[in-house]
Amino acid sequence: MSKASQELERRAEALREKIRYHEHRYFVLDDPEISDAEYDRLVNELKALEAAHPGLITPDSPTQRVGGQPREGFVKVQHSSPMLSLDNAYNEQELRDWARRVYELSSTEKIDFVCELKLDGLSMALHYKPDTGGRSKFVLAITRGDGSTGEDVTANVRTLRSVPLTVPAAALKKAGLPQEFEVRGEVLMPTKSFVRMNEEREKDGLARFANPRNAAAGAVRVLEPNITAQRRLDFYAYFLLTEGRVFRAEQSEALDALETAGFKVNPNRKIAHSIDQVWEFIQKSEEKRETLPYEIDGIVVKVNDTARWQRLGFTGKAPRWAIAYKFAARTGITRVEDILVQVGRTGKLTPVAALAPVPIGGTTVSRATLHNMDEIERLGLLIGDWVEVERSGDVIPKVIRVVEGKDHPRGTGKFKMPSTCPVCKGHVVRAEGEVDHRCVNVNCPAKLRESLLHFASRGVLNIEGMGDALVDQLMEKGLVKDVADIYSLTKDQLLSLERMGDKSAQNILDEIEASKKLPLERVIYGLGIRFVGERTAEFLAQHFGSMDDLIKVATDDDEAKSLEELQQVEEVGPRIAASLREFFLEPRNVALVDKLRRAGLRFTGEKKVRGTALAGMTFVLTGTLEHYSRDEAKRMIEDAGGKVSGSVSKKTSYVVAGEEAGSKLDKARELGVTVLDETQLMNLLKPS
Ligand code: IVH
Repeated sequence: MSKASQELERRAEALREKIRYHEHRYFVLDDPEISDAEYDRLVNELKALEAAHPGLITPDSPTQRVGGQPREGFVKVQHSSPMLSLDNAYNEQELRDWARRVYELSSTEKIDFVCELKLDGLSMALHYKPDTGGRSKFVLAITRGDGSTGEDVTANVRTLRSVPLTVPAAALKKAGLPQEFEVRGEVLMPTKSFVRMNEEREKDGLARFANPRNAAAGAVRVLEPNITAQRRLDFYAYFLLTEGRVFRAEQSEALDALETAGFKVNPNRKIAHSIDQVWEFIQKSEEKRETLPYEIDGIVVKVNDTARWQRLGFTGKAPRWAIAYKFAARTGITRVEDILVQVGRTGKLTPVAALAPVPIGGTTVSRATLHNMDEIERLGLLIGDWVEVERSGDVIPKVIRVVEGKDHPRGTGKFKMPSTCPVCKGHVVRAEGEVDHRCVNVNCPAKLRESLLHFASRGVLNIEGMGDALVDQLMEKGLVKDVADIYSLTKDQLLSLERMGDKSAQNILDEIEASKKLPLERVIYGLGIRFVGERTAEFLAQHFGSMDDLIKVATDDDEAKSLEELQQVEEVGPRIAASLREFFLEPRNVALVDKLRRAGLRFTGEKKVRGTALAGMTFVLTGTLEHYSRDEAKRMIEDAGGKVSGSVSKKTSYVVAGEEAGSKLDKARELGVTVLDETQLMNLLKPS
């Protein structure tokens, strides 16, 4: 190996090490040391290096989390030992009964228990094998399946940032782990991602997932790793096996070892020296349940001393050394007094059940969303019906079924979606094939209200203090007629509002001022363009580098060209492209954008650096490449400035054909387009 290439390899490895360290800080410890932008810079540097020198790419590189090709299906794999389920205890008595049996069978009262949260996701087994340099590498992820056989979902699980792709030798040593081991734990979807995902699905006219567990299971079992990656799933480890056996004498030590090795282990755990202490932990956790960013459905209690496990044996197919204490479901039964209609930012009308107030899990619930007309029909709900309402995490309470019986007579009021908007009396339409009803009046005040709240919210323009109360007042007084008006508010105007002192008025002005410094992607996100969420806004900002370039492309006279160019942006498909075009072709929106520009918001950003080696060239990939997945090849071409298209035409510069290339190769030959093999593509990618 030449000196220069040794040097490059060292640089790549140093970058990888650094990125892994920061990923661990961020995704496992929730304690980042550097900003997201700095992290992105490191990743981009590595990506650029790898794009220029594909030989440097290693499978465990942080850039390779997404890379698997869409699959045909999943392969079934046998577990090293069965993945068991647990018996449940539904109250204190059942818990104590379980403990008594443990004490009896162990002939001692001196037993320590480990209490862990029962995370409501899906269980998963991760396998690690020896790697060069004394490290371990992640090689296989298997779903629980029927307990003895699961499905190989490795490509999807690789995309979870809290799953280490390698464990360094030093970490193995510190944790006392051999290079080969198996970790079992729970994959879960944080409540926030779940809410966002359902919102997106609803916009797309797809069915909502009933709970984060189903959503996580769906995301793990998709055939396209890219989709899993977008779902922000998390993995918490709770079980460690070496050579098919439990690791260490104590479960608590195993958890500590997992943490030391770099896995995410839930910090809410405790060694209890008596069942009273277990009960105390359970009660405290139930209170804490509300504040956790993910769902738990109980507490798992395990005998800490693993030597006892074998002696305790099984009841049916569950081990006696552990029990799952299940929290009561947070549901309540109440009456639907009325069905109201709310109007959202996009003009969507959402039916909401007004309930006779009912206490559920510590709070009083008097509203529950009904999502849309289809949902009301599915439930068969009438005004006056008794219903069961469920509340989970910070998800809005929802009606799960109509309750019927002697004490629960049926209601009689049939709900109809209004034909005019309840806020502005504008026209309401339900477009062909869509589930939602919408108010079509662009000036509907309800839309303005929601737009303002979205614009000012955290994660968007982040104007703290500009919540419902302030927005309502600003609108009532006619001080803001669009989001840009926020920037011409004066202190006197703010002081004229109710309950507004000098200090709060100044704070709000400071917040408004500070928002002008936020990056371009926030401004794009803040515009509230349909289907353009946080991620898409980020990709748009990176791709175009300025609002003007985005607008120029989105409003190009040549519609086909405009849509095609928009779709060059990562994750932008025909639907988002059309929405962007529609938004920027509306003169009122352009006027608003101009007003924001004059207010001094950021209209330029950092364009993601792309190479120029392949600038102006269009590639079509077909067949299976030997060393790279299609996604990888696509990314490398794009990083070098080229474009990748799905179909061969006369404009195609090159068709890259791998094994078993099909009709696209024939088409290329027919049109006389140059065909490259993988090596020739790599040569093109090399800087000259
Ligand atoms: S221990 C035999 N620990 O609950 C060991 N399970 O009903 C079984 N779960 O299938 C697993 N959090 O999906 C264990 N801290 C935890 C858990 C946990 C959630 C799930 C897991 C398992 C089910 C058992």
